[in-house]
Amino acid sequence: MKKCVLVSGGAGFIGSHVTVELIAAGYDVVVADNMSNCDMTCFEGVKKITGREDIPFVKMDFCDMEAVRQLFAAYRIDAVIHFAAFKAVGESVEQPLKYYKNNLISFMNILESGCPNVLFSSSATVYGEPEKVPVTEQSPRQSATSPYGNTKQICEDILQDTVKASGGKLRGILLRYFNPIGAHPSALIGELPRGVPNNLVPFITQTAIGKRECLSIFGNDYPTADGTCLRDYIDIVDLAKAHVFAVRRMLDDKMEQGCEVYNIGTGRPVSVLELVNAFEKVNGLKLNYKFAPRRPGDVTAIWADPTLANEKLGWKAERSVEDTLKAAWAWEKHIAGK
Ligand code: UD1
Repeated sequence: MKKCVLVSGGAGFIGSHVTVELIAAGYDVVVADNMSNCDMTCFEGVKKITGREDIPFVKMDFCDMEAVRQLFAAYRIDAVIHFAAFKAVGESVEQPLKYYKNNLISFMNILESGCPNVLFSSSATVYGEPEKVPVTEQSPRQSATSPYGNTKQICEDILQDTVKASGGKLRGILLRYFNPIGAHPSALIGELPRGVPNNLVPFITQTAIGKRECLSIFGNDYPTADGTCLRDYIDIVDLAKAHVFAVRRMLDDKMEQGCEVYNIGTGRPVSVLELVNAFEKVNGLKLNYKFAPRRPGDVTAIWADPTLANEKLGWKAERSVEDTLKAAWAWEKHIAGK
């Protein structure tokens, strides 16, 4: 019998790409989302890409324990991949309780469901400003600089503690994403930021299409070769595939520890300026940009050592930054109807 994976927050940017890859790998998927930060565009795209009109979709809020109970009673769920969370760093500073309540309670409710396999979407933000790069999973976590980042750390701890206390009944995986960018090559699913984008690539594509006048590059006086920050930009389809390898490891009983942690990145640092230049080159256009002061809270340089994920999950990032930036641009044009 096919194993069934619940994707919470499955109508969003990462969740929709993960749903596509899980279905391609032969899993049944149940998508659940409260639609607080997206519309049905990506879920409709998932149905088109997979050719599956019958993917179960449940509109629900994971903070509502009764709704969580009903969901688990209605479907035989073998594993959960949990994405349903708020993710705007700035907003979390202004409204910390909104973030703590939503991001922590929804995750605890999922753990209370008793599902034996839980994968949590964590972030490289837990490493803060690292002393040494690239970072391995053993690199120390730093205290979070925002309530959003803190919810990632607390959820990591909650999962670790719950696995420990479960006496082998619960397996957990924490995936620490670096900077997920791009879109599906079909241009049918991608990132749909509401309002002014915080993240670099949506800001670039929106500037290129004319929705924004000018991209500000935050800081060109960092101690890096070209003065701009270094990040590890990971293609969204590559990132989605990492989830399939991780879920398979859990469901095939291959885990070596109750809770395993993996960096999901390319291992390749790219500066903001290099990314902007690559976007212009591969898409044959000129971007209006200027240098602006540093953005508070930004770290100078962080990229992954992905060796553990390469070896234990058998996963590796494959797509080039160029392909990823082409896909991001195709998606922006698709949503603009061009
Ligand atoms: C941000 C979050 C991180 C979160 C991640 C999700 C902060 C401080 N960190 O990471 O917690 O997990 O998104 O994807 O917000 N940049 C510009 N101009 C822009 C936007 C960004 O120059 O308009 C630069 C930033 O200074 C940074 C790089 O681009 O150097 C990447 O920024 P962004 O896409 O926001 O990601 P992070 O800040 O790395």
